[in-house]
Amino acid sequence: MIIEVTGLVKKYKDYTAVNGVDLSINEGEIFGLLGPNGAGKSTTMNTLLGLLRVNDGTVKMFGKDFSKHAREIKRSVGYVPQDYAFFETLSAIDNVTYWGKLYGLRGEKLDKAVQEALEFTGLWDRRNGIAKTFSGGMKRRLNIACAIVHKPRILFMDEPTVGIDPQSRNNILESIKIMNQNGMTIIYTTHYMEEIEAICERVAIMDFGKVIALGSIEELIDSISTGNRLSLELISNTETAVSVIEKTDGVNACNNINGVLDIHLEKNERSLTVLLENLIQNEYEIKSMTMEKPNLETVFLQLTGKKLRD
Ligand SMILES: Nc1ncnc2c1ncn2[C@@H]1O[C@H](COP(=O)(O)OP(=O)(O)OP(=O)(O)O)[C@@H](O)[C@H]1O
Ligand SMILES: [Mg+2]
Repeated sequence: MIIEVTGLVKKYKDYTAVNGVDLSINEGEIFGLLGPNGAGKSTTMNTLLGLLRVNDGTVKMFGKDFSKHAREIKRSVGYVPQDYAFFETLSAIDNVTYWGKLYGLRGEKLDKAVQEALEFTGLWDRRNGIAKTFSGGMKRRLNIACAIVHKPRILFMDEPTVGIDPQSRNNILESIKIMNQNGMTIIYTTHYMEEIEAICERVAIMDFGKVIALGSIEELIDSISTGNRLSLELISNTETAVSVIEKTDGVNACNNINGVLDIHLEKNERSLTVLLENLIQNEYEIKSMTMEKPNLETVFLQLTGKKLRD
């Protein structure tokens, strides 16, 4: 266990933003913190980093109590904050150099580390460009370069892909995988479940300051009772089909939404076969069909009754 959090509580005046969070993070994993706006993801991260004082609970990193060994621990930890952490009026290289110095790097070691961080984030050719003139994707990458210059063992990343185009986003997700393959443990917050599904081994889902589910993505999907969802269009007789479908074994619900049938199937391997057999026997002809498997969004919906994003 590289990080162990027990009973973490963080209040802003009398508002409890983090309400008794327990987390165990394994060395070498990419761990996701998923939750809607205001769930307490950033607050959790900031308390783990020692940037906010905890009201209750304990945090251990590398087996050591954070409150007693904060200085030592922080040297091996990097943080990509949700907001930009660089100086807008400085060049990329000056920004990364600044962060390298903060972590005690000097001389040749510093120069080498700065170059590596800028190369890794694809900014070396633009190293003399002023940060404020950079595109959204480049700013996000510069934010990462500043956080990894000292080669941390653990990297905290708070929504590092917000506000950028899909290509830059994929680029960042790929670089996270590479850093992880090189041994870095990564804690990643987002409210995009697609990102979690793309890179994370395990995930904690947060809502109202609490962890409401924790496990691998498959474990979480297996844990809910919802099955596949089917969108079905028939060539004709859609309205009469609704009652036939509703009565089929393995169907939980069927709604006609502007001529497209939205069907909720039971969590059962055979439910689709049974339904299609029944439709064909009753001489309904199928025009189109798409199937949606349950995902982390479905897990969140089942646990909270609401969507991750509005
Ligand atoms: N400095 C602060 N003072 C008072 N309340 C705060 C402060 N920072 C956060 N909060 C509140 O604490 C709750 C959790 O906020 P937090 O920023 O941790 O959520 P989040 O999950 O990171 O959300 P987002 O996805 O929007 O970044 C929210 O209700 C927020 O309004
Ligand atoms: Mg946040």
